[in-house]
Parts: sequence; C-alpha cells; structure tokens
Amino acid sequence: MRIVSGIQPSGPVHLGNYLGALRQLLELASGPDRPFCFIADLHALTTVHDGARLAARTREMAVELLALGFGADRCVLFVQSAVAELTRLAWALATVTPMPLLARGHAYKEKVDQGLTASVGLFTYPVLMAADVLAYDADLVPVGPDQLQHLELARDMATKMNLAFDPGWDPASADAARSGLVHLPAALVRENTALVPGTDGRKMSKSYGNTLDLFADDRTLERQVMHIVTDSTPVAAPKPEPHPLLELVTVLCEPDEGREHTRTWRQGGVGYGAYKRRLLERLHERFDEARRRRAALERDPALVDRVLAAGLAEARGVAAQVWARVARALGVW
Ligand code: ADP
Ligand code: TRP
Repeated sequence: MRIVSGIQPSGPVHLGNYLGALRQLLELASGPDRPFCFIADLHALTTVHDGARLAARTREMAVELLALGFGADRCVLFVQSAVAELTRLAWALATVTPMPLLARGHAYKEKVDQGLTASVGLFTYPVLMAADVLAYDADLVPVGPDQLQHLELARDMATKMNLAFDPGWDPASADAARSGLVHLPAALVRENTALVPGTDGRKMSKSYGNTLDLFADDRTLERQVMHIVTDSTPVAAPKPEPHPLLELVTVLCEPDEGREHTRTWRQGGVGYGAYKRRLLERLHERFDEARRRRAALERDPALVDRVLAAGLAEARGVAAQVWARVARALGVW
C-alpha cells in the first residue's frame, strides 16, 4: 500500500494541518507502510514569491515535521521540487485534462470570484497535485476535508490518462484503481474530522493569518490564542454558537472534558478568557515535547540534510520507474 501526502511550506505548521492531516499520517506511519510525505514547495510558489523566504520556510517545515515524528524510520520525507519527473507528469496530465474540469477548482474559483486575476499556476494547481500522487503510484492520500475536491480531480485525470493511453484498461473492473497505466488514488479523511476553524472563525489557513502555530514561541502562541475573536457577551450569559473558541478547545480535550465545556458554554458562568487559558494549556501539554525536539533538531542541521537526502533518493527511485512506464505509453522520452 502506498500512502502519499504533502504540505505547503507557505507558513509554519498549524493546528489545522495537524488535526486535519498530519495526525492521521502519523498514525499510518506507525503501521507497516512508510508513507511518503513531501514539502510542497512548488505549490507554495503559487503564493510565495520570495526565494529566500520560500527556501527558509521549506527547511523549517522539514524540521517541524521531523519534530512531530516524521523521521526516516517511519516515513519518506522529501522536498517536492527535487523530483524532476513530477513536472513532466504534470504536463502529460495537463494534455488530457479538459479546461472545464479545472475551472471548477475551488482555489481558482475563489480568486476569480474575488475579482482577482488568477495565475496559470493557480489554475493548474490540481494538475500538479494529481502528478504528486500519481508519480508514486499512491493508493491512499490522507488529507484534510478541504482537499477532497483535489483528490476527486486527480482521479478524474488518472481516468482520462488511462482511457487515452491504456487500451486494455477497464474502468468498470474490480481492480480498476490499481490496474491502469496510472493508479486512481483514494483520499483518506479521518472520521469525524471537520475543518479546524482559525482564530477569526474562517478555515484555519496559513494564507489567512488566523493560525495557532504548533511551534510558535510561548508568547506568540499566547498572543494567537488571545486573538481568537470574541464579543461582549457577559460572563454569566450563554455564549453564541458556533464559535471557533469552543470548537478549538473541545477538539483538543478528552471527550468528557469537551462535553463539560460545551455545557458551561451554553449555560453561561464562564468567561471567554477561561476557555482561552484552557486551550493554551492544552496546546502546551500536547505539543511541548515536539517543541523541545525541534529545538534539538535546529542544533543539528546535518541530520535534517541526511533525512531529506535519503527520502529524496527513495522518492526519486519510485518516480523514475513510474515515469518510465508512462513515457513509454505516451511515446515520449
Ligand atoms: P494551508 O491551508 O494552511 O496552506 P496546506 O494547504 O499546506 O495548509 O494543508 C496541508 C494539509 O493540512 C492538507 O491535507 C489540508 O487538508 C490540511 N488542512 C489545512 N488547513 C486545515 C484546517 N483548517 N482543518 C483541517 N485540515 C486542514
Ligand atoms: N494542496 C495541498 C494543500 O494545500 C498540499 C498538497 C500538494 C498535497 N500536493 C499534495 C496534499 C498531494 C496531498 C497530496 O493542502
């Protein structure tokens, strides 16, 4: 079973990334299959146009992922842009992808709806993402719920490619997903995982500046928590719902404690500040060990280099084989 997932280095790892995707990737990493986990710097190029910053962020992301437990013994960690076959495969996929399929893409639509000009890169973002998983014959792609559409598009593109270049492939057969020229990947979203809200109530995202960053220093983390938007509801009164503060604090607690917070929230008597302090405590309990590991890793850059180089060698090996197979069928070199 090949498991593949990626994360953009457009900002530090935040709670949404962890609860939505990284947590289940880590769970899978303790099983028999070492997942491929890559830092999607080519995707981040759709938003970050500052070379020094992107390079630094990519490196920090590697350190943060290692600190969270994505070590070489448990997964294959590498940087997306170093696998050259990927962009070739993306081009090949683009030639079988109808424009209207991509026009449905939510990142692109959002931008256009806001009256902004989207780049060609943003438009074709899902094509590169499809290549990201098809290049390694991925069977399973653990992601947060916001990426389901991208995975559906990846399956559509894989289907188009098989129909065009693999005459023997039968999309209706029982083993259709794994028997074609390219495999049809399945998204894996953790059960009961909703999108984690950010401090402003929108989806927590690096691009909205509304994150709780797992590796922020104590003061910054406290500031981020205190920034969660609240209103002037008196302490004694029931609090409005849905509310990002309630969602954030319950998602980090044991179910019993979570139910108790929901009860007091609805009943009144507890002020917003108390929930914020509890959330901050929970964040420290949960991530302080990883934070200590990160501090140690920062003192050992050679170790980070070694892990990334070993991961890259392994990923390249697989991508080269898949691309050779695809190139033969396409009639290109
Ligand atoms: P961001 O939106 O902050 O740039 P990425 O696009 O790099 O984050 O996402 C990496 C992974 O984290 C993806 O699988 C994505 O689905 C997941 N993810 C990101 N934000 C959230 C969120 N708010 N809730 C749940 N999962 C999320
Ligand atoms: N687009 C994903 C996100 O924004 C990141 C990503 C890029 C990814 N390539 C991927 C995730 C391949 C899973 C598989 O969250």
